[in-house]
Amino acid sequence: MNICLVGFMGSGKTTIGKALSESLKMDWVDLDMFIEQQENRTISDIFKENGETYFRQLEQNSLSALAKEDCVISTGGGVIISKENRQVLQSVCTVYLVYPFETLYTRIAGDETRPLATSYEDLKARYEARLDLYETASQVKINCEGKSINEITQEIITYLKTIA
Ligand code: S3P
Repeated sequence: MNICLVGFMGSGKTTIGKALSESLKMDWVDLDMFIEQQENRTISDIFKENGETYFRQLEQNSLSALAKEDCVISTGGGVIISKENRQVLQSVCTVYLVYPFETLYTRIAGDETRPLATSYEDLKARYEARLDLYETASQVKINCEGKSINEITQEIITYLKTIA
């Protein structure tokens, strides 16, 4: 089985993906870390040196290869922009981690490792523009606000049991 976690920047995809993979005793891949290892440079440097379009191509290539594997994948927040990626996500088990924008903003504001963590207004517009895309790409939504990592992980596992 392949499980992909999607959601906006700051929604805990990396943390929850790792915790989930440990509980399920599955392999775990973080898409951004995978790309950084392949390119031997940071996501910020990829954006600076080659631009977003180049990064999106790497992201698409990596997702389509890794989605064939038996593993948990923590994706990057913009993975759902591409129609091809949304189709890949629909073909596996994709879980959408939902938070209100204000919570996400306090987590990502000023984070220099995130090239798209810009102003409040720009981020809010980006968040709103993506909401439908996260919904389209995923099979299940988990409302994460106020919940612990363990509670979120357990909720995902409960969902997985319903589809097993
Ligand atoms: C992006 C989110 C980032 C990373 C890149 C672009 C986005 O991942 O993939 O900076 O477009 O939302 P996180 O969601 O892990 O921050």
